[in-house]
Amino acid sequence: MINLILITFLFSYSWCDISEPWQLGFQDPATPIMEGIINLHHDLMFFICVISIFVSWMLARTLWHFETSQNSVASSVTHGTLIEIIWTVTPALILLVIAIPSFSLLYAMDEIIAPTITIKTIGHQWYWSYEYSDYQSEKGDSINYESYMLPEEDLVTGQFRLLEVDNNVVIPTNTHIRIIVSAADVLHSWAVPSLGVKCDAVPGRLNQTSLFIKREGIFYGQCSEICGVNHGFMPIVIEAVSIPQYVSWISNKLEG
Ligand code: CUA
Repeated sequence: MINLILITFLFSYSWCDISEPWQLGFQDPATPIMEGIINLHHDLMFFICVISIFVSWMLARTLWHFETSQNSVASSVTHGTLIEIIWTVTPALILLVIAIPSFSLLYAMDEIIAPTITIKTIGHQWYWSYEYSDYQSEKGDSINYESYMLPEEDLVTGQFRLLEVDNNVVIPTNTHIRIIVSAADVLHSWAVPSLGVKCDAVPGRLNQTSLFIKREGIFYGQCSEICGVNHGFMPIVIEAVSIPQYVSWISNKLEG
């Protein structure tokens, strides 16, 4: 019986790699960076809860005890050195404690670790284009293509409205990847929540970010910088595949 439950659970479990109705939390992480972001969020949530409960409690207590009918003669005390030192030093210490994991994550996100593959993504009004310049066909062409959102009437059952594109970005798992981001016309932003990536695409400027995807899957993202009327209609689809699958995809692209 236990086995049956376990098997049913294992086979019915699926990752949350897309937003869900009434979702409050994060999507499941697929990169170490996104795991770090979620952990930092949980760490901060602890401090937020403790502080807001303490402050609300103090406020309620003050309103209750110092209301005129209960405390008709006002106190003449104007300051107390000890309490002022305590309420200055304690928040400073809390901020110091928060700064340590925050900075380590910030610098981890900034680090580009000897990437194996570089992919260039360019934002346009209103689609993304991608270039894989590490490879060349026999004719000397590199791989580049455009990625447009699928219109609603072309969707088949099981596809996601406003999120599917005609050409996915195919990326191998367990590989250090550099993503170079730019724009051709106005500001865009290349963002994929499950991967913990949000990188501004600025015309005339190259921004870079790194990716290390830990599991296979399809990850959805959207342009995250207001870029005009079709800002909401230029999604990003990342298809994370095994390295052999990636190699065959690349060789197909080079031949075709
Ligand atoms: Cu492109 Cu918003």
